[in-house]
Amino acid sequence: MTFTVQPALAEVREAADPVHAEDRPGAPWWRSAVIYQIYPRSWADSNGDGIGDLPGITARLSYLRDLGVDAVWLSPFYPSPQADAGYDVADYRDVDPLFGSLADADVLLRRAHELGIKVVVDLVPNHSSDEHAWFQAALAAGPGSPERARYIFRDGTGPHGELPPNNWNSVFGGRAWTRVTEADGSAGQWYLHLFDTKQPDFDWQHPEVRAEFESVLRFWLDRGVDGFRVDVAHGLIKQPGLPDWHDRTTMLGAHVEHDHSEHRPEPTHATPYWDQDGVHEVYRAWRTVLDSYGAPDRILCAEAWVEPQERAVRYVRSDEMHQAFNFDFLGTPWRAEALTDTIARSLRSSDSVGAPTTWVLSNHDVVRHATRLGMPSTESRPRGIGAGDAQPDRELGLRRARAATALMLALPGSAYLYQGEELGLPESTDMPDEFRQDPTFRRTGGAEIGRDGCRVPMPWVKGAPSLGFGPGPLAWLPQPEVYGAYAVDQQVGVPGSTLELYRSLLAVRHAHALGTGSLSLVEGLGEDVVALSNDGAGRDRVLVVTNLGKSVVELPEGAEVVVASSPLEAGAVPTDTTVWARW
Ligand code: NOJ
Ligand code: CA
Repeated sequence: MTFTVQPALAEVREAADPVHAEDRPGAPWWRSAVIYQIYPRSWADSNGDGIGDLPGITARLSYLRDLGVDAVWLSPFYPSPQADAGYDVADYRDVDPLFGSLADADVLLRRAHELGIKVVVDLVPNHSSDEHAWFQAALAAGPGSPERARYIFRDGTGPHGELPPNNWNSVFGGRAWTRVTEADGSAGQWYLHLFDTKQPDFDWQHPEVRAEFESVLRFWLDRGVDGFRVDVAHGLIKQPGLPDWHDRTTMLGAHVEHDHSEHRPEPTHATPYWDQDGVHEVYRAWRTVLDSYGAPDRILCAEAWVEPQERAVRYVRSDEMHQAFNFDFLGTPWRAEALTDTIARSLRSSDSVGAPTTWVLSNHDVVRHATRLGMPSTESRPRGIGAGDAQPDRELGLRRARAATALMLALPGSAYLYQGEELGLPESTDMPDEFRQDPTFRRTGGAEIGRDGCRVPMPWVKGAPSLGFGPGPLAWLPQPEVYGAYAVDQQVGVPGSTLELYRSLLAVRHAHALGTGSLSLVEGLGEDVVALSNDGAGRDRVLVVTNLGKSVVELPEGAEVVVASSPLEAGAVPTDTTVWARW
């Protein structure tokens, strides 16, 4: 006769010291807000030209009220030649006719506010479009002119100035310098562009550049916007003398995703154009402008791909920005220990400056997390996936994505969602190359697939032309066949759908004030589990368990499940599942 000896169940309990303390009562909205990113050209098209627009957004805002988000962030809608999908701004105080008009922006703001949704807009201060009036004036005015001084023009090197001023490369591939032809037809100076040739970098040492952007802030604040997401916030100041740089130029995460067990890469500020100390002076000045608008707070959110975290949190010191995307979390591999470590370190780092942490899993620059987490390896995040690449396991990716989001939304701090993730939308991974528009694809000769795969227009109605994105069949990027099954109309009111999961998560997060709670690690549930407890005055503790192991995990006795990212198995938490439970 054989006996199975049941190991004594370890006691499940909170670790001695909480990782993070509860936020103060009456903390301002942005410390715990859930903000939904709209990529305007791909959300809703009102006039059937295949490009999403502001009236399209306004018409569908009630969808976001029903989802339960606090605010939206709109990627750029300003007049632009669209060389980088609007991140090449030709006029900071207007709306591109492609997206509507200033009057349409006012209507959008009013409607959003009526629905209780705040509106954050994108601000692109590192560079303008080459079609911006200032750059055109700089070209016309010639070397040494005050007009050129607002950008970074330099003479070339080599006997005839035929070589670029230094060896910097563009984030999008190729060199970061372009030589101009002077008015007299001669080969002239070079200008710096860390991104596309059509995106010349401003010289932020120039007082006129600083004054101009403060005026742009006021322009939009006066119209009623609730804040700004600041593009390339770590790039504005370049090291004096523009010294050569020995490494690759990357921004979107090559220095972010890493195996947590390995040696860490160089700090970002070793690169002579990233995370230079001088940027903070700019944001302190901006904070004064925003604060002058009084309550409720208008906010700044930094897009700063900065490592290590001790440097990244300098952007959210109390007199600088309010939020900074936590890209470390986005880049953490799907392993329990790594996730727990990132969460605890993130909270401790932001707490060291009194700021909330700003969680994010997807945006318009990275592979959607429903696809990323279904790739054979998440160790090195690909810059886009093409038909010739290894393809994701879609079911696994979605299951993990739901678990990852449920983990993220249980955490104190604010969180950003990227349009379509609430539908579990996968990346388009087999888009024919002729449709690709990301400049990085062209500039690297296709070596980098680019970001078009996460920018495909939203599916609203299965079977409708353009899946309900617009009134007609046009969509600026092709929508994969499978998108119909993910359409909003297929998921609303359907128990277990990803959309209904997101709605439940947001409702419970709100009801239990998880965004302002304290956080403790929970011991005793095993090694392959992220186990946390979110607590707050006057409400039940919420146990958060994400199981990344192979076997099911039993919950402690008395735990009462409130929401689960996938169905439980006989009351236990299966693989790749997150549950929230009162305990
Ligand atoms: C970051 C933006 O998110 C990305 O889309 C853009 O290409 C670069 N900044 C350059 O503006
Ligand atoms: Ca349109």
